[in-house]
Amino acid sequence: MKIRKAVIAAAGWGTRFLPLTKTMPKEMLPLLNKPIIQYSIEELAGAGIEMAVVITSQGKRAIEDYFDRSPDLEQMLAEKGMVEKSREVRDVCNMLDVCYVRQKEQLGLGHALLAARNMIGNEPFVLVLPDDLFEYGEQVLMRMMDIHRQYGGCVLASARVADKDVTRYGIIGPEELSNRVYRVKNLIEKPSLAEAPSNLAVMGRYILTPDIFEILMNTPPGRNQEIQLTDGLQRLLKRSPMFAYEAEGERYDAGSLAGWLDATFAMALKDPVIGPELKQSIMRRLQLDNAPAKTASKDQPVLPGILN
Ligand code: UTP
Repeated sequence: MKIRKAVIAAAGWGTRFLPLTKTMPKEMLPLLNKPIIQYSIEELAGAGIEMAVVITSQGKRAIEDYFDRSPDLEQMLAEKGMVEKSREVRDVCNMLDVCYVRQKEQLGLGHALLAARNMIGNEPFVLVLPDDLFEYGEQVLMRMMDIHRQYGGCVLASARVADKDVTRYGIIGPEELSNRVYRVKNLIEKPSLAEAPSNLAVMGRYILTPDIFEILMNTPPGRNQEIQLTDGLQRLLKRSPMFAYEAEGERYDAGSLAGWLDATFAMALKDPVIGPELKQSIMRRLQLDNAPAKTASKDQPVLPGILN
């Protein structure tokens, strides 16, 4: 069955970016000149998805406005001869059908997914967590769709993480089927290094079968009193086979300040226009940083408190 629909989970509080996320959805944070969530929409459109259901919550209306037409802006740009910019602004809303549903209380990712149940219906679909970005996101998704076609069942995107990081992720117990393709034997949420069956961590792209909805409806709140998607997946794994694809290329976690900065620099350095200048600037700063301090102590933050 062709996968036509996707869910983008964008209802979380974004506490790691407070106070910024008090009024601004973290999905609207920029990565270069686009908001984070646009990369998800582009990836889905590129992989042939026809409709995305974005799960939002209070204070996230900026996402809806962003993917809507902006006739005055388009006209102003066209009148000023900025035809390319005008087209770029219009293209943002034409990539695929986007609709929205609110998660009325932030009771976890599993709970958020249930809000999309009626819009998805009885067909397999993609779930995207927009904070997780892949260098080759479109290809990763298409490869996951191939695996779903071949084996059926759910398919999870995964990537190898350092030993020190296994405690931060859902970790897969893998049985290798072919290059980068695994059958998931078990799934452990945030294990200790000793418990971890591998260092293959689940990342924010999933192909899910619709039976996940019924399972989540009957999954009690787990960690943080939230309905956890991983708890639902563990239950689903007992019923039907599940697969994982080890994504190629870099992955960025834009859900924390350090990760977002890393993603920003990585993307900017690859950009043919701003990359070379940014590289010079970074090298100059690193030299300054290594030079003996004259006035202020090197250890003093430039903006106190910013990285708390
Ligand atoms: P995170 O664990 O990153 O939480 O959610 P968060 O709220 O986005 O950010 P922090 O940790 O407070 O800084 C993982 C994904 O699940 C979604 C988020 O939007 C993100 O895509 N989510 C989480 C929901 O949609 N609803 C929830 O109740 C919780």
